[in-house]
Amino acid sequence: MWDRKHLLGIAELSAEEITEILDKAQHYTATALDESTTSDKLRGKRVALMFFENSTRTRVSFELAAQRLGASVTAMQMSASSVAKGESLRDTVLTVDAMGVDFMVVRHSSAGAPHQIAGWVSASVLNAGDGTHEHPTQALLDMLTIRRHKNDFDGLRVGIVGDIAHSRVARSDLIALKKLGADVVLIGPPTLVPGAFAQLGAEVAHNFDNAIHNCDVLYMLRIQCERLGGQQFPSMREYCEFYRLDGPRMRRAKPDVLVMHPGPMNRGIEIAADVADGPNAVVLEQVANGVAVRMALLDMMNNHR
Ligand code: CP
Repeated sequence: MWDRKHLLGIAELSAEEITEILDKAQHYTATALDESTTSDKLRGKRVALMFFENSTRTRVSFELAAQRLGASVTAMQMSASSVAKGESLRDTVLTVDAMGVDFMVVRHSSAGAPHQIAGWVSASVLNAGDGTHEHPTQALLDMLTIRRHKNDFDGLRVGIVGDIAHSRVARSDLIALKKLGADVVLIGPPTLVPGAFAQLGAEVAHNFDNAIHNCDVLYMLRIQCERLGGQQFPSMREYCEFYRLDGPRMRRAKPDVLVMHPGPMNRGIEIAADVADGPNAVVLEQVANGVAVRMALLDMMNNHR
């Protein structure tokens, strides 16, 4: 039974809690995109979207999810807030909290920022991505998408490919997949697939062509140029040659392999356009499932308000 005020990371959730969220989200998939089915479960509740980093999918789907449940939503422009005048993170969130907000959806470039905020405010805090640490709602919508196609996680082999080192999505997905019983192989050049990830129970592979054939899911990641410090691989051309998911590589994969990507995609870099738009890809389904997952979370967390 769900009994949490905040959602800060996948690491803190049990397999049973993850499954409970997926079951509730599965229920919402039928109505999440249908405006005529708006409920009043969160009527009178206020949701503040506080994105200190850019977002399209996460921000819009949280907004739609809250609206579907009847909440009022304030989507703050953080770059146009008093943060630009030097107001601290603590003073900013305490100010918003003082206005009686019930939920704060926070994305921040610093790992751990949502955890800190949860200790300061009376609102429920949902982590919408913190630095390179976690992106729990992305992992939950990914698990829902995989479950809808593959039914069971036991014995499932998921290849996560690309810039693992800088990816909060990779980290949250890896933790969720292991808790649910899947096998995970992290694939990429040694500089972007650090050995430390093996300690979380994943295999590590540097040769995509050798690792692709027995994967049931291929989860492609973009190179996070905004988080790269120094030169992490010789050239983008070489990266594409060895790690892009394109037509020839797809012919080495299982015919029913599920192709996923959290977005935003860099078409032609980590994934070829015809694969991104092809019959195995479920990228837009992931986006749609994001609304259902965020509705489920707001609904379940509302019991704490
Ligand atoms: N997947 C994801 O978090 O996308 P946005 O950055 O657009 O929210």
